[in-house]
This record gives sequence, C-alpha cells and structure tokens, in this order.
Amino acid sequence: MTLHLGDEAPNFQASTTHGSINFHNFLGDSWGLLLSHPADYTPVCTTELGRTAQLSSEFKKRNVKAIAVSVDGIEDHHQWVKDINEVKETDVDFPLIADQDRLVSTLYDMIHPNASGTQTVRSVFIIDPQKKIRLTLTYPASTGRNFNEILRVIDSLQLTDNYKVDTPADWNPGEDVIISNAISTEDAVEQFPKGVNEVKPYLRYTPQPNTK
Ligand code: BEZ
Repeated sequence: MTLHLGDEAPNFQASTTHGSINFHNFLGDSWGLLLSHPADYTPVCTTELGRTAQLSSEFKKRNVKAIAVSVDGIEDHHQWVKDINEVKETDVDFPLIADQDRLVSTLYDMIHPNASGTQTVRSVFIIDPQKKIRLTLTYPASTGRNFNEILRVIDSLQLTDNYKVDTPADWNPGEDVIISNAISTEDAVEQFPKGVNEVKPYLRYTPQPNTK
C-alpha cells in the first residue's frame, strides 16, 4: 500500500517486546515515530535502535512515541535489545514489533522487492496526534538514519502547526523562519512583533515566534 502525506496512518494489532499493541491506542494523543529495521543482529540497525533509545528524553519532550519494526521474531528481539543496551549503553524503552508475517511491513510498504525481497528498507514515518502521516523517509539498508534530521523535522512540524510560518532549507530550532505566503506583509508586521525582514515580496523572514 502506498501511503502519502496526509493519509491516515493504517492501524494494526501486533506482537511487540511490550506485549500485544493496537497501534492507534499505543499512540493515543502523542505524535508517533515508526521506524523499520531490515533485520535483527545487524550492525547499522543496532546503532539506530541505540540512538533512538539515547534520544528518549528528546522524544518525550516533543510528545513523540517511538516504535520500531523488523521481520524477525519476538525472542530474537528480546535478545537483541540486550545487546543494544550493552553496546550503546542505553535502555531501549520503546516497543519493537515482531513482524514475521509482514503485516506491518506490507501495510506501510516497507519491503521494496527490487532492493530486497525479504528485508525491509529503512522507513521513517512521523505521525501526528490526529494519526495523519506527516513525513515519510526511505533510506537504503546500507545507510543509517540521521536522527538529528528526524528531531529537526518534528520541531518544524510542531512549530508550523502552531504559527503561520514555514521553515527554510537547513533550518534549525532558534533560527529565523519564513512567514507564510497566505499573510500579507502588512498583516505580518502586526502578527510578528519580533520583526519582518522582506527579502522579496514572497520571501519574508521573522525570528522564530515561540522563543524568547
Ligand atoms: C545493518 O543494519 O547493518 C544492515 C542490515 C541489512 C543490510 C545491510 C546492513
């Protein structure tokens, strides 16, 4: 199934290292980060799951619940999590889905047969509290994900949901943002008291509105 931005994230029931989970109930009112991993006991995946765990407080701060999926079984997941905790000196505190029947991988189009017929690619889905898909990323198995980028996109989505702004290329939290083109420059001056820098009539910057 091809999923697009704005689609509802498909629900599923799955066996995980935290017991049986109904995905939508698991998410509740939180944002979700769904990550697929090609296989257990593989080096790149080990670093990625470890990094996700190390960033646990960053995800909590942003009201994001992480959940990972791989097509291996629950016993392997439990043993592998012990390795990850040891190697990355962390505590994997999020569930790992055992997707041996490929229900979740198929639902989220995580198996790309021309890359591998058996393993998932490295998919990223960011899901908002209304269960809408807000970001998809697909990495090849050989390339570990950039978790700074994942946090950056979450920050951008949460900011732009609350203010009439967009974030420019390579934006990082705290930097100037772009005023939405739906607002006239006259209105922007009123709505953004920190200042409006009009570079072009269609490109107006303002300091990030929700920082001191
Ligand atoms: C890895 O996680 O290290 C990996 C998994 C599948 C293919 C290549 C690398």
